[in-house]
Amino acid sequence: MDYQTIMEKHGQFLFPSVINYHAEPIAFAKAKGLRLTDVNGVEYLDFFGGILTVSLAHCHEEVNAAIWAQMQTLGHTSTLYPNEPIVRLAEKMASLSPAGLDRSFFVNSGTEADETAITIAKTHAGGNGDIIALRHCYSGRSTLAINLCAHAPWRILPTQVPGIKHAHAPYCYRCAMKLTYPACDLQCARDMEELIRTETCGRVAAFIAEPILGVGGFIVPPEGYFEVATEIVRRYGGIFIADEVQTGFGRTGGKMNGFEQFGVTPDVVTYAKGMANGFPIGCTVATDEVAASFEGLTICTFGGNPLAMAAALATIEVMEREDVPARAQRRGAQLREGLEDMADHHRWVGDVRGMGLMQAMELVEDPGTREPAPARATALMEEAKAEGLLLGKGGLYGNVLRIAPPMLATEADIAEGLGKLKRAMARVR
Ligand SMILES: Cc1ncc(COP(=O)(O)O)c(C=O)c1O
Repeated sequence: MDYQTIMEKHGQFLFPSVINYHAEPIAFAKAKGLRLTDVNGVEYLDFFGGILTVSLAHCHEEVNAAIWAQMQTLGHTSTLYPNEPIVRLAEKMASLSPAGLDRSFFVNSGTEADETAITIAKTHAGGNGDIIALRHCYSGRSTLAINLCAHAPWRILPTQVPGIKHAHAPYCYRCAMKLTYPACDLQCARDMEELIRTETCGRVAAFIAEPILGVGGFIVPPEGYFEVATEIVRRYGGIFIADEVQTGFGRTGGKMNGFEQFGVTPDVVTYAKGMANGFPIGCTVATDEVAASFEGLTICTFGGNPLAMAAALATIEVMEREDVPARAQRRGAQLREGLEDMADHHRWVGDVRGMGLMQAMELVEDPGTREPAPARATALMEEAKAEGLLLGKGGLYGNVLRIAPPMLATEADIAEGLGKLKRAMARVR
């Protein structure tokens, strides 16, 4: 199908609310490694990995072969029937999680994984206790997940789910309390107690947080934040849910899980995105005790299907063999150095932040006022496209460039992407 026909049919048959990044959307036809090719034959270097989801590389042969082999033997049975792939992946997930988190529930997306985590947190609390999420967080697209989200543009309806409170985000570049770390003594985390005592019934079911706020613009909490916040939450009876949908599977560099960077151990972890290199999957991992509180009948028709299990098992096998967390750390350091160098030459780059292969640049009109510069971010995305480079965008103000290539990126790939970005930035006024 040619470009024009795809665009006409897209306009006619898809929901108009489906977002795309570019004035003239790109329609892709194929991909391999870090390269995507559109229907007109134009090649792009992928520095966003389908929203941090192509964790290894596009069309990875071992992952594809594992899916194909599974397809020839057993495709779908539903969770009504145990099978080998589901127990193999559940055992693997237990080995990747902190001690005691041995129970998995498989779903198809990050939204469902977060929904499952909130449901078990509430049943664990006997239906008694509020949920605390972070401002600037993103949890997905269901009604509950939209209500967890703390970005007005994503909350397409007024608040509809009661019992959710939003704590201050550990967003040092735009501290809501106008304080500076470390002199602030982590007031954003300490304020959690005031929030619980004034905004809730005094009992907490769970605190759900992304170790690094992804859609929020790769906001990295300062050292000590999670220790203080989780201590307060646990004192009021709540469990800690780490939303690893973006940060999991080596993305933050050096560690398999994002929370490991911050010296805290969650009671529940949610995964999706990079878990199966792009094959739809989600997973909620919990302790025995929390999982046991999930009483009554439950099923997820497609959750745990053998194809997704095979895709995830093959993805994790490659990650372990190639030591993806260590690669993400090395390539992330190279990427960060390049971005900081560019920031030195463009005063409209207000902040460079991130961990591993999850790096961001927050664009501002003026570094003094820190006024967000969303139009500049849009212009830069267009210039990057002209260079054949795909980037992500995010942040409450739409002014943060998110850079997260597939993690089998080589040194040459990162250098090439940085070169393209440098040329694109030079053209942005
Ligand atoms: C941290 C986080 N949680 C949950 C989700 C929802 O995942 P999905 O889009 O797979 O439903 C996202 C998606 O971007 C996410 O970034």
